[in-house]
Amino acid sequence: MTTPTRAMALALLVLAATVLSLPTASLAVTSPYVRPPPRETLSLFKDDDADGQTPEQVHISMVGLDKMRVSWITDDDAPAIVEYGTTSGQYPFSATGSTTSYKYVFYHSGKIHDAVIGPLQPSTTYYYRCSSNPSREFSFRTPPATLPFKFVIVGDFGQTGWTDSTLKHIADADYDVLLLPGDLSYADFIQSRWDSYGRLVEPLASARPWMMTEGNHEIEKLPLVEPKPFKAYNARWRMPYDAGASPSGSNLYYSFDVAGGAVHVVMLGSYTDYGAGSAQLRWLRRDLAAVDRGRTAFVVALVHAPWYNSNEAHQGEGDAMRAAMEDLLYGARVDAVFAGHVHAYERFARVYNGKADPCGPVYVTIGDGGNREGLADKYVDPQPAISAFREASFGHGRLEVVNATHALWTWHRNDDDEPVVADQVWITSLAANPACNKNKNKICPLGL
Ligand SMILES: *[C@@H]1O[C@H](CO)[C@@H](O)[C@H](O)[C@H]1NC(C)=O
Ligand SMILES: [Fe+2]
Repeated sequence: MTTPTRAMALALLVLAATVLSLPTASLAVTSPYVRPPPRETLSLFKDDDADGQTPEQVHISMVGLDKMRVSWITDDDAPAIVEYGTTSGQYPFSATGSTTSYKYVFYHSGKIHDAVIGPLQPSTTYYYRCSSNPSREFSFRTPPATLPFKFVIVGDFGQTGWTDSTLKHIADADYDVLLLPGDLSYADFIQSRWDSYGRLVEPLASARPWMMTEGNHEIEKLPLVEPKPFKAYNARWRMPYDAGASPSGSNLYYSFDVAGGAVHVVMLGSYTDYGAGSAQLRWLRRDLAAVDRGRTAFVVALVHAPWYNSNEAHQGEGDAMRAAMEDLLYGARVDAVFAGHVHAYERFARVYNGKADPCGPVYVTIGDGGNREGLADKYVDPQPAISAFREASFGHGRLEVVNATHALWTWHRNDDDEPVVADQVWITSLAANPACNKNKNKICPLGL
């Protein structure tokens, strides 16, 4: 057999095994697949930037339903202007934003620019350039204004050979928005690694909105020397915390809508206060209370440290946050919660308060982007009944919200260099499930 045929046969076999295991929902599966060791960190040398004004590390993020923030970095001073239009080489529109920079111990960042462009048409390709620099043209496609809608979801990226493999598979997906539950660059205090990470992800992150929340690797606090957490993350990856129906006021947690409001995405912050009386908890209550589930078919949440986890790695780290917030999510009938942190894949049944519950969210750990710390392959034994599938491999997830009642979740293992669908499940909207909405005209989160 030729290699592609064998790979395809293998893919079909795994798919068949997965599909066969689906109807027996009570069957907990620990995949026997064992991954090769971590791959080396890539060296991404700096492009020559002779004039100091060549934009690099370009990425975009959604601001409301019809605007986009463009962020980029130049070595020297350059105008914070984005020029754009729907034809390559022609830029009839422009917007000017602002510039910032930061120092970290002996490191001085480049000039970090961002500008918000729009209103933009949905499902449309726009061409743009930054700082009026003619040497690099970029393009992106705006997300659709209605369902269906396609997300890619993956956390704990890093910048290794495995990251590269994951990024290639994501590039092959025809997705609308990427959701990242934290741990981006694994710069780990070495600030130039934020720059190399920015260059690594630019081809994808300049072409589709990348929306994220923070992980522990974003904190980068150094006692006395750098007492302020999230310095690089907040400067480089600014999210729309001041936009939308419930602005949070913090880059560390926020929410946004897609598909004309059919899907509401809640980005939670594992590494900022979330307990009783915290600003985050107050905001979350307000945010979920404002969601009209008659209009919003799906609500999904992202968080870094998983609230449900049967891997030995990071066991119990999400417990305090779960205790503070689980009731709110349950009350709002949040459909799914995606976490990172644990470098492996795990999917749970619908769960509430530690038990299977048909009105609770599906919990997924997707911290398997490919970072240099390698995989977390030690699991709690026996596998808890609420854990439906777990496997320590790198990969990425895709959530396709097909219509107002159905979303298809698939997990794509890197399987060396071929992407293979190794787990899949249909997630149905809890808002459309009468059994979960008895005695409720309007879903009202507990505690209001
Ligand atoms: C929604 O999608 C599911 C899965 O494809 C399908 O079975 C169902 O009939 C669809 N619902 C409507 C209203 O089209
Ligand atoms: Fe982490």
